Amino acid sequence: MSTFDRAALIAAALEARRQAYAPYSQFAVGAALLTVSGGIVTGCNVENASYGLTICAERGAACSAVAAGEREFAAIAVALAGGGTPCGACRQFLAEFNPQLPVLLVDADRPWLVIETSLASLLPSRFEFRKV
Ligand code: THU
Repeated sequence: MSTFDRAALIAAALEARRQAYAPYSQFAVGAALLTVSGGIVTGCNVENASYGLTICAERGAACSAVAAGEREFAAIAVALAGGGTPCGACRQFLAEFNPQLPVLLVDADRPWLVIETSLASLLPSRFEFRKV
């Protein structure tokens, strides 16, 4: 990933976070996926009164990308307070498309603090569907 793409991806995740719909948790999350073709697709968390229907920012971004015909992901940036890691469900969801995906964790309160990791580290043994 180029320095330019990296900066654009971080900025896009921070911008997407501004659209978060999080009236229950008040915890806003933004995600930005860099596609292999060089595009950026974003998502934010969208909560629901029935709590369990909440969609995380990462899964929202992945669904938008697939709907736009993009299935090859080069990196994801996730922006949230404290710069935490994607939840387990989102790790599995993203690993479907790239189990090695580089992950940039952006502290939304201190966006110059970016931790670089990957799905290979965060989810070493994803579930894989195998017919027996
Ligand atoms: N959330 C995300 O958007 N991504 C994650 O990886 C973890 C959690 C959202 C879901 C919910 O709206 C809020 O953060 C608090 O859990």
